[in-house]
Amino acid sequence: MELYGSSRVVEGGELSIGECAASSLIQQFGSPLYVYDESFIREQMRKYRRPFDERRIPYQIAYACKALCTIGMCQIAAEEGLYLDVVSAGELHTALASGMDPQHIYMHGNNKTQAELELAVTCGIGMIVVDNFYEIELLREILETTGRTIDVMLRVAPGVDAHTHDFIATGRQDSKFGFDLASGQVENAVRQISTCPQMIFVGLHAHIGSQIFDVEGFRLAAERLATICVSLGHQFGVTISRLNLGGGLGIRYTSDDTPTPIETLVNSLIDTVQDAFAKQKLALPQLMLEPGRSIVAQAGTTLYRIGSRKEIPGVRTYVAVDGGMTDNPRLALYGAKYEAALANRMNDPVEELVSIAGKCCESGDMLVWDVQLPRANPGDILAITCTGAYNYSMASNYNRIPRLAAVLVHEGKARLLVRRETLDDLIRLDVPLTVS
Ligand SMILES: Cc1ncc(COP(=O)(O)O)c(C=O)c1O
Repeated sequence: MELYGSSRVVEGGELSIGECAASSLIQQFGSPLYVYDESFIREQMRKYRRPFDERRIPYQIAYACKALCTIGMCQIAAEEGLYLDVVSAGELHTALASGMDPQHIYMHGNNKTQAELELAVTCGIGMIVVDNFYEIELLREILETTGRTIDVMLRVAPGVDAHTHDFIATGRQDSKFGFDLASGQVENAVRQISTCPQMIFVGLHAHIGSQIFDVEGFRLAAERLATICVSLGHQFGVTISRLNLGGGLGIRYTSDDTPTPIETLVNSLIDTVQDAFAKQKLALPQLMLEPGRSIVAQAGTTLYRIGSRKEIPGVRTYVAVDGGMTDNPRLALYGAKYEAALANRMNDPVEELVSIAGKCCESGDMLVWDVQLPRANPGDILAITCTGAYNYSMASNYNRIPRLAAVLVHEGKARLLVRRETLDDLIRLDVPLTVS
């Protein structure tokens, strides 16, 4: 298993993260447990900013907090000079509760409700990324009623198919997100927005997919967006001051994944956008990126206790842990692959090929299909790496399993990001039937 950030094997063959031993973390906070490496998260954020700072190019990096949305994470983003991309009232509420400057928050979503847009407008967020014609009308009414003004960007579906898994690709023409570029919807949207003086049109957005390893898809998207900018300039006299290329940079979940390092890719992205806009004789807009996965995925490790095992001679050995698809649904959802190791016996020789199963009543509740481990015994600690993104945020209470605690580790200190749900938390919203 490859180790990232501050993860090390220390004396006694134990895994330590942020100078905290896996066994001590579980002893203090219980099992299973999400562990986040704070310095790794901060360094990933800095890797996005550095190329822009070095080249003195105007930019805005927003953390796409859908990847891991907690108050503490929003605080870290603010401390590192990042903005926040939110997609729901819940994410917005979390961001505001963290003390984030509302002007540094912007909102996405393909079906923002009236209540969400009202909240976004009245709390004074910096920008709304408008996704469709229905939303333009909703927003127009809200702005007229409240007398407010807001910056808007249009989400465009540029018809780019980035290298990524089919189920999580969003940049194709056949997508539920954004205005279709090919059929002229972008021009129509700008026309509608230009009739509402309270909507200030600032630019275009495209998110072309997830787990992308190279710049090619972004290049194509940037070229298409630059072309449409020329057409918008001719038709409506508008100039684009911001260009948002979304998130999507890939990470190394297993040794099969070979992403380009963040700083290299960001530098290529800058070159690409510069070229695309120069070719069209357009001024370079402020470049915006909104990474999620590449900020937090590799900084997260989930620790579990091993329990039962089932050996099917000649077929497979299942080793079960005390969590599963409730804390990490990514294998069940789209076949995600992970690496794993026994955190309390990192130096022991590998003895068997096993499959790691969860404890839910669902055959698809698997965490890793094939992993080589030392003989795994009940009570051993299993670590699965790269579980920082879209794990806690996609967690569920299926089978009424409480959601895990999450801790942030750094230099031997562990701080709670999220406390563990209790059994009482699980029934907190239930309403017992009364006899009438
Ligand atoms: C609009 C938008 N921006 C940013 C992101 C973050 O993507 P990633 O976590 O792959 O960087 C997503 C993810 O779905 C998205 O839909």
